[in-house]
Amino acid sequence: MNFDIADIALADKGHRRIEWASRRMPVLASIRERFEKEQTLAGYKIGACMHVTSETATLMLALVAGGAEVVLCASNPLSTQDDVAAALVDAGIPTYAVRGEDAETFYEHINAVLDTSPDLVFDDGADMTMVLHKERVGQEVLGGMEETTTGVMRLKAMEQDGVLRYPIVAVNDSDTKHLFDNRHGTGQSSLDGILRSTNILFAGKRVVVAGFGDCGWGIATRAKGLGADVIVTEIDPIRAVAAVMEGHRVMTGIEAAEVGEVFITATGNIHVFRAEHFEKMPDGAIIANAGHFDVELDLVALDEMAVSRRVLRDNLEEFTLPDGRRILVIAEGRLVNLGAAEGHPADVMDMSFADQALAAEWIIENKDTLGPKVYTLPKELDDEVARLKLEAMSGSLEQLTPAQEHYLSSWEHGT
Ligand SMILES: NC(=O)c1ccc[n+]([C@@H]2O[C@H](COP(=O)([O-])OP(=O)(O)OC[C@H]3O[C@@H](n4cnc5c(N)ncnc54)[C@H](O)[C@@H]3O)[C@@H](O)[C@H]2O)c1
Repeated sequence: MNFDIADIALADKGHRRIEWASRRMPVLASIRERFEKEQTLAGYKIGACMHVTSETATLMLALVAGGAEVVLCASNPLSTQDDVAAALVDAGIPTYAVRGEDAETFYEHINAVLDTSPDLVFDDGADMTMVLHKERVGQEVLGGMEETTTGVMRLKAMEQDGVLRYPIVAVNDSDTKHLFDNRHGTGQSSLDGILRSTNILFAGKRVVVAGFGDCGWGIATRAKGLGADVIVTEIDPIRAVAAVMEGHRVMTGIEAAEVGEVFITATGNIHVFRAEHFEKMPDGAIIANAGHFDVELDLVALDEMAVSRRVLRDNLEEFTLPDGRRILVIAEGRLVNLGAAEGHPADVMDMSFADQALAAEWIIENKDTLGPKVYTLPKELDDEVARLKLEAMSGSLEQLTPAQEHYLSSWEHGT
């Protein structure tokens, strides 16, 4: 078996880590049980480009239990848990992922997975999909799944330009994904990354959150919960009003740069904080990114402005500017929650990865009718995942009475 990981000797630790995550993923466990019985994925090869974490490992093992052949590589050079990668290889899943790999290795790993000619592609950020569309134009793929907002944006642009070659499910767009993973997962784990790398006290800090989408909502809400004075920057007036009504101040980036102490981007956009902002930030400003790509902070500009830089703590680098001000960058501006912490908790990835597993099954079942488009999973599947999660969390759902059902579907009743 071919693979490229840091150290196979870490496998035992990885297995224990996967066991701990999988205990908190009951919805995925129930899908795995059904997959195992029905051998839903037998005969299909899956190529996955995802964060190599214990939660992803639980998904990969569920796919294998369903009969699939799975090959995995990392979707971010800094998000790989080397012990998990080792455990996956030990479990017989060819894995290509080394934490801290350079860009060349990152793409070599994507190509190693694609060399196995997968039928289905699981992607996170659409990097594997890009390689398939730009460099491997003749390679046939049955369908794909996309995990994150940024990836879905890229796919929709491809669909619009008429260049998409096969059906892809925008898993991010399922309510059971973005309303929980992006909000609660990114909210908690981004602060976790900042805490692990800096150990600062959030209470009383002026925390600037750029972008008040699902991720920004989560980060701002959690920071406020820890006692921070939260400032939001937005380009969308509706999201900006939403932020004000949640009790945050809303300012331009430049205004925020002057007063903020901690800055976190979650926009999916490029150069949200750049030279003009770094010029205004106070000494000791901490900057981090929770968006998918490491482009939200213009670190090339910061490097050019700096007279020196040094690593101060794990995942914390200090840039000193000519006037003596120091700006601290967490995890090289890459996803702070995966670079400096462990990513989303398994409890929330349970739903995202249940959606992923069901999306693979849905593509196989509908392969003869789907075209080269971006699809959202049918609402029944989304509802089913939520129902199973609610049950696992000991909640129970109210049922409509026949009279209520009639009332909701009729138009005759009025004042
Ligand atoms: N860290 C993680 O684990 C994780 C998890 C899920 C999503 N993501 C990524 O996080 C990013 C945001 O995802 P989302 O689901 O919140 O997206 P979203 O579309 O819901 O929100 C993004 C928000 O940023 C705003 N925005 C865009 N440009 C801006 C700018 N220059 N300044 C201020 N605001 C701006 C938009 O108006 C929007 O409200 C994406 O890149 C996504 O892929 C990361």
